[in-house]
Amino acid sequence: MFFASYQVLCLTLLVSRSVAQSWDSGNYSFSPPVYPSPHATGAGDWKAAFARADSFVSQLTLEEKAEMVTGTPGPCVGNIPPIPRLGFNGLCIQDGPLAIRQADYASVFPAGIAAAASWDRDLIRQRGVQMGEEFRGKGAHVVLGPVAGPLGRSALGGRNWEGFSPDPYLTGVAMEHTIKGIQSAGVQACAKHYIGNEQETQRVPSVGADNSTIEAYSSNIDDRAFHELYSWPFADSVRAGVASVMCSYNRLNQSYGCQNSKTLNGVLKTEFGFQGYVMSDWGATLSGVPAIEAGLDMNMPGGIAFTSATPSYFGANITIAVQNGTLSESRVDDMIRRVLTPYFYLNQDKGYPTVDPSSAGLNALFPQSNWVYHFDLNGTTNRDVRDDHAALIRELGSAAVVLLKNTNNALPLKKPQHIGVFGNDAGDLTNSLYFFIGNFGGQYEYGTQPVGGGSGTGRLSYVVPPLDAIKARARKDGALVQYILNNTMASTDLTTLWPPAQELDVCLVFLKTWATENFDRSSLEVDWDGNAVVENVANNCSNTVVISHSGGVNTLPFASHSNVTAILAAHYPGEESGNSIVDILYGDVNPSGKLPYTIAYNESDYNAPILNVTNPGPNDWQLNYTESLLIDYRYFDYNNKSVLYEFGYGLSYTNFSLSGLAVKKVSSGDLTALPPPVKVVPGGNPSLWEPVLKVSTKVSNTGAVKGATVPQLYLTFPATVPSGTPLRQLRGFEKVNLSPGESSSVQFLLTRRDISYWDVEAQQWRIPEGGLTLSVGFSSRDIKHTTTVRAL
Ligand SMILES: *[C@@H]1O[C@H](CO)[C@@H](O)[C@H](O)[C@H]1NC(C)=O
Ligand SMILES: *[C@@H]1O[C@H](CO)[C@@H](O)[C@H](O)[C@H]1NC(C)=O
Ligand SMILES: *[C@@H]1O[C@H](CO)[C@@H](O)[C@H](O)[C@H]1NC(C)=O
Ligand SMILES: *[C@@H]1O[C@H](CO)[C@@H](O)[C@H](O)[C@H]1NC(C)=O
Ligand SMILES: *[C@@H]1O[C@H](CO)[C@@H](O)[C@H](O)[C@H]1NC(C)=O
Ligand SMILES: *[C@@H]1O[C@H](CO)[C@@H](O)[C@H](O)[C@H]1NC(C)=O
Ligand SMILES: *[C@@H]1O[C@H](CO)[C@@H](O)[C@H](O)[C@H]1NC(C)=O
Ligand SMILES: *[C@@H]1O[C@H](CO)[C@@H](O)[C@H](O)[C@H]1NC(C)=O
Ligand SMILES: *[C@@H]1O[C@H](CO)[C@@H](O)[C@H](O)[C@H]1NC(C)=O
Ligand SMILES: *[C@@H]1O[C@H](CO)[C@@H](O)[C@H](O)[C@H]1NC(C)=O
Ligand SMILES: *[C@@H]1O[C@H](CO)[C@@H](O)[C@H](O)[C@H]1NC(C)=O
Ligand SMILES: *[C@@H]1O[C@H](CO)[C@@H](O)[C@H](O)[C@H]1NC(C)=O
Repeated sequence: MFFASYQVLCLTLLVSRSVAQSWDSGNYSFSPPVYPSPHATGAGDWKAAFARADSFVSQLTLEEKAEMVTGTPGPCVGNIPPIPRLGFNGLCIQDGPLAIRQADYASVFPAGIAAAASWDRDLIRQRGVQMGEEFRGKGAHVVLGPVAGPLGRSALGGRNWEGFSPDPYLTGVAMEHTIKGIQSAGVQACAKHYIGNEQETQRVPSVGADNSTIEAYSSNIDDRAFHELYSWPFADSVRAGVASVMCSYNRLNQSYGCQNSKTLNGVLKTEFGFQGYVMSDWGATLSGVPAIEAGLDMNMPGGIAFTSATPSYFGANITIAVQNGTLSESRVDDMIRRVLTPYFYLNQDKGYPTVDPSSAGLNALFPQSNWVYHFDLNGTTNRDVRDDHAALIRELGSAAVVLLKNTNNALPLKKPQHIGVFGNDAGDLTNSLYFFIGNFGGQYEYGTQPVGGGSGTGRLSYVVPPLDAIKARARKDGALVQYILNNTMASTDLTTLWPPAQELDVCLVFLKTWATENFDRSSLEVDWDGNAVVENVANNCSNTVVISHSGGVNTLPFASHSNVTAILAAHYPGEESGNSIVDILYGDVNPSGKLPYTIAYNESDYNAPILNVTNPGPNDWQLNYTESLLIDYRYFDYNNKSVLYEFGYGLSYTNFSLSGLAVKKVSSGDLTALPPPVKVVPGGNPSLWEPVLKVSTKVSNTGAVKGATVPQLYLTFPATVPSGTPLRQLRGFEKVNLSPGESSSVQFLLTRRDISYWDVEAQQWRIPEGGLTLSVGFSSRDIKHTTTVRAL
């Protein structure tokens, strides 16, 4: 959600139609109708909570039922009003995926992309737990996160950093652990944005020159890519027990995300067996009864339901539609049971903290004067929920650093006495600690970049700038630190340095790249002409180390410069930024991050660009996923294109080896190509999740220092699968910490889904005939051992 776009959207709502869009599909891909909306049953382990939700629903009046599914102004980003008569205190829904944004005294965690770069299940899980604790402490029932859409189809996607990786397997694992972490703290997670929200440009309708509505872009995704890439991590989310799923602004096959019956009723609620509720993105509800029948369960931020001061397709429209026979009350009951089952399951009715009044004060969307319901703001204000979370933030910030280049053992630093620090990312923030900003600004020249902008940002209570941390560390060594933070000066004039650049022991160049909701990036280069800074420093300093804080892919034209001895991609590390990077630079922490995406040589090497239509007609924003399955490394591998740093790559200060590769069948009995028709549980057909193969290898630390690495397992399908199948796909990884000389065996369990492709004819996951090739290595292109096995 985004405040300003919500305002823009409200304007279009007033002028746009009130029925579901039905384009003449023409030659465009389109979503088939799937009705009626399947009612939840409390499947999985939600039975008892479902019964409590059911009994709650039976006590509600029709008006209260409408309130339960319609947002209203209140203290939080999204609010469901209290029903004091039933002891229900309402629901407080808050942004976002890396922090409770609308809050003070809260932590700002590393972004999703940083978490993914760690490839560390435990750290990702702990990040979820601690985020959950902070949301709970502030009285928020629902976290608007984690993010699996965008997945990262386009390297230029403006919100890619909020999510994890363009690899669905890695993203799926990160979704699972984040959701389980958040929900273990008693807080609901919301997997978003479902689905095909792969670019920001024209994500919502706009008004054309003749006042006609220009529809949002349509992600036109073929069935295989839909299953094998984009919906894969959402299936993992449902399997992990996610409370809610947020439908997206964009269209998918011509039909808007929040009224697409195929993706909501068909895939999410039938194929994946989702038992929770579908919540609209902010302002993404574009109809009432049609959206409800297509599977939407909650309209956010809704409206002022019964005073009509703000229109809402839900609210009183639901009451009227039930009364006039257009909408069945049983579907409304189903919506509420879906909303309340996770609430009871997580015991949110028992002593849950009330909303911190300071969150209400920070609410720009809903000033208190607009509230129509009474929310309890009698709790303690300005609660400090940060606890000792800075320790994990610092650790994960280090674990997210990918060491891309390290020649002449430039790193770790060995007590350098003369240090130069360059670049506008090194210093402290200069334009406030908050990047939400109604004007979508935030791309300030001076100051480090610990997070991106928009609803996925966090309000920093402090930040450790790299320069501060370097100074503190250097002081211990009695070292001299000089710095030029002005990029223009650093790229033209180093004459003020003494000792001069040529005599510095190390030159640390800090670069940044801004990314925010509502805008895609227009370039893959670092911002503020950072490349020129590197060029000038490296021309004068033979030990130049480049560090980037970025929301994703950057091209690195200086990578082959002989004086650029080390390059580190540090992503968006959150509030402990400086400490996280200093721990790596000085070797207190051995780098173990691996790229969760590919760094190519040139921007033009990437496929799947952002669609940007000039002078569009109403239906011209057609985002055709013509590359199908071939995104990121799948594309580069398939086309045999060389890249600078491949997916899964990352260096260490020690060396590792992989020995042995064994595969064992672990399925009970003979496998059939298609899964047996078993009753669907949350996540899908349970046999898809049964382990069928166990792959083992052994990893050893052959170097001189302690460190962690990530053995990776890739699958190659036999030639019997349809064409266009990627050459290699990630199907297992494990972070392993080893002392020098130490070895550890690593096991990867492959499920039926892992070794199947989506058969569009059968509409099932199919294990292909023929040999499956399994490869283990340290990246997608650093394969150490390979073997072939038949599963059938
Ligand atoms: C569909 O494509 C064919 C050519 O492939 C064209 O002749 C036809 O007019 C198109 N139909 C529509 C509705 O765009
Ligand atoms: C998308 O595909 C449709 C149908 O093939 C085609 O008519 C349209 O021109 C394509 N749009 C873009 C932007 O490529
Ligand atoms: C979208 O359209 C494509 C092409 O017609 C089709 O293969 C796919 O199944 C559709 N997906 C959904 C979710 O409607
Ligand atoms: C578009 O709508 C605005 C506001 O209603 C109006 O002032 C303007 O004349 C309209 N423009 C056209 C081209 O119809
Ligand atoms: C029904 O929805 C429409 C569209 O948002 C809105 O204009 C109208 O005020 C709503 N009616 C009620 C009674 O809420
Ligand atoms: C019933 O109410 C809904 C919601 O206000 C409205 O959209 C629909 O047109 C009404 N139908 C009839 C038959 O009155
Ligand atoms: C909170 O305080 C207000 C004002 O003092 C009071 O009216 C209200 O009853 C209190 N309790 C709750 C639950 O809001
Ligand atoms: C940055 O450096 C350039 C070139 O030396 C200079 O013109 C500019 O004023 C400096 N900017 C600031 C904010 O000092
Ligand atoms: C740094 O190198 C450039 C050549 O790339 C040169 O023009 C410049 O004078 C050098 N600066 C210093 C201070 O040595
Ligand atoms: C799309 O085009 C507009 C207008 O030409 C431009 O301002 C914008 O930067 C472009 N967006 C991207 C992501 O390239
Ligand atoms: C590397 O730095 C040294 C200064 O220490 C400089 O003399 C040399 O020209 C630089 N090399 C390149 C390729 O710029
Ligand atoms: C990158 O692009 C430039 C020109 O755009 C070209 O000269 C260069 O060869 C390309 N490099 C690679 C490795 O493709």
